[in-house]
Amino acid sequence: MCGIIGYVGNKEIVPVLLEGLRCLEYRGYDSTGIAVHKGSALNIIKSVGKLANLEEVINKTPGLLNGKNGNNGSPKSIYCGIGHTRWATHGEPSDLNAHPHFDSDEAIAVVHNGIIRNYQEVKAILLRQGVRFLTETDTEVIVQSIANNFKSTKSILNAIFKSINELEGSYALAILFKDQPNKIYAVRKEAPLVIGVGNNENYLASDSSTVSQFVEKVIRLNDNEVAEISKESIEVYNLKGEKLNKDIQAVIKSKDILDKRGFKHYLAKEINEQADVVSSLLRDFLPNHEKQIQFEHLKLTTDFLKNIDRILILACGTAYHSGLVGKYIFENLTSIPTEVQFASEYLNSKALLTNKSLVIGISQSGETADTLAALKKAISYGATLVGITNKSDSALAELAKEHLLISKAGTEVSVAATKTFLAQMTVLYLLAIYIAESTGSSKQKKISLLKQELKLIPQLIDQTLTRAEHYQEHVIKYANRADFVFIGRGINYPIALEAALKLKELSYIHASGYASGEMKHGPIAVLDPTVPVVSIIVPGETYDRVFQNSLEAKSRQAPMIAVAVDGDKKAESIFDTVLRIPPIMELISPFLTVIPLQFLAYYIAEHLGRDVDQPRNLAKSVTVE
Ligand code: AGP
Ligand code: GLU
Repeated sequence: MCGIIGYVGNKEIVPVLLEGLRCLEYRGYDSTGIAVHKGSALNIIKSVGKLANLEEVINKTPGLLNGKNGNNGSPKSIYCGIGHTRWATHGEPSDLNAHPHFDSDEAIAVVHNGIIRNYQEVKAILLRQGVRFLTETDTEVIVQSIANNFKSTKSILNAIFKSINELEGSYALAILFKDQPNKIYAVRKEAPLVIGVGNNENYLASDSSTVSQFVEKVIRLNDNEVAEISKESIEVYNLKGEKLNKDIQAVIKSKDILDKRGFKHYLAKEINEQADVVSSLLRDFLPNHEKQIQFEHLKLTTDFLKNIDRILILACGTAYHSGLVGKYIFENLTSIPTEVQFASEYLNSKALLTNKSLVIGISQSGETADTLAALKKAISYGATLVGITNKSDSALAELAKEHLLISKAGTEVSVAATKTFLAQMTVLYLLAIYIAESTGSSKQKKISLLKQELKLIPQLIDQTLTRAEHYQEHVIKYANRADFVFIGRGINYPIALEAALKLKELSYIHASGYASGEMKHGPIAVLDPTVPVVSIIVPGETYDRVFQNSLEAKSRQAPMIAVAVDGDKKAESIFDTVLRIPPIMELISPFLTVIPLQFLAYYIAEHLGRDVDQPRNLAKSVTVE
């Protein structure tokens, strides 16, 4: 995580850096800071907490950072600086640990995204050489190492190359040197970094949507590349010091990313966009339910599809939950054994993959380090990778030659995933149908019905969204509870997990999701009159059993809440609160059952005064393993 911004050009530096950090704050908000050249010195200002705190500090110290490089601040003055928004991995969130970090002589300033795995070893060596450390971060090791190497090499680039060879881990770096007032140095290894190419000005940022606010073109840095960026030139080198010819690409403009469109929170806006998101994906991939799925750009041959020996889905968090729904659909329609694993656990599991296996990597950001690492491992066994991501220019899109874009979902700003969850489910359903159809599945009738029903989903989502007030009214009374249990069965078990994750993330209330049949095998012990149980109970194969499991919970005096369809009178007989959804076929019910539960988490969090869009301790993009 962590967001990096850099600028060199004639614009007043501080507003540019702050604007960049505003776009990047989703990546972490433990602290923010900026470093700029001022006269013959480097100046750093940083502050724990959100960007607003940094702005306050800057406003209180006018002139401190106006960033003129020893010239008079006329329009022709060159301004150069870097900024950072942090998600702490090493050292608590504090002013001291906030980036940028200086070397001991305050001649070099560094901002870093990633982790240095061998920082203790490198630190020990530097300590023996008399270097003094001030912070608890791994990042300080980088800047002290570069300073140390600069003493022996007397060359900035060679010092950087030498440090890269000494440091293990993942890092995107932006570096300022006091003696090079008009240049930013940038390094990338397993963490995102792009250069925004402007007219007589250049930018650097952790994502292209940030630079797209300022420029039309980008240069994408690859791993182990070092860039030297000035106002009018960008030189990129490999680790041998050879100059590289980099492509300049057009940037995909991300418009109005930070527009809440009248909603109080991005989360509310994004929940409310879900009908449109599903509708536009269906329009693209299933324009006509009587015809085949249109995945023309997927280059999987029929021969491959017919012989898939297993499907492995790798993802984290909410994306993992959409994968669990996917497993259910794949096994239902294709009979191909499908496994879903937390990407962070996969590295430890035995490889069962062959060149007949299909691996599906799901990641909204396309940058999740755990997911990328697991997928790289999986494809090393010869499996074919299909990626599902919201970002066309992400590392996942790059890694997966075959990928399904859900960018129609639009940028998701709120840290808690909502609309991208529905988008991921949509393409997983379509992919399952696609594979089933391409392989001549015997379940043609079921597939036709499913396609027909899927086309109706957007309007059912819309109807569900209009019930927001009903949900709000019914859930607020549970806001003071300390624990929640969510239960579901079959295809709605993943929704119980997702609902618990949403509630934890947004409200900080402890919550667990269980397969309803598992309650009696242990978890039921936690129930008493203080622990609400939320049952997802939809007519179909699982209804009677979920009902029975709910009765068991009720017998333990747990307050009972249901997500149930309109007209289900039986639900009223045992549940204290019923969150109604329109009637829906069980197989596609997750598209609706999740919505009241997203609202439940949202309204409870809002009622408790939580920071809904940027919950504590989290970040939108998790680029460390
Ligand atoms: C979802 O609400 C979470 N913020 C989180 O679990 C997220 O889904 C997970 O980190 C995976 O992110 P990705 O989709 O960008 O890979
Ligand atoms: N490891 C650095 C720190 O803790 C950067 C963290 C990150 O990129 O997530 O400050």
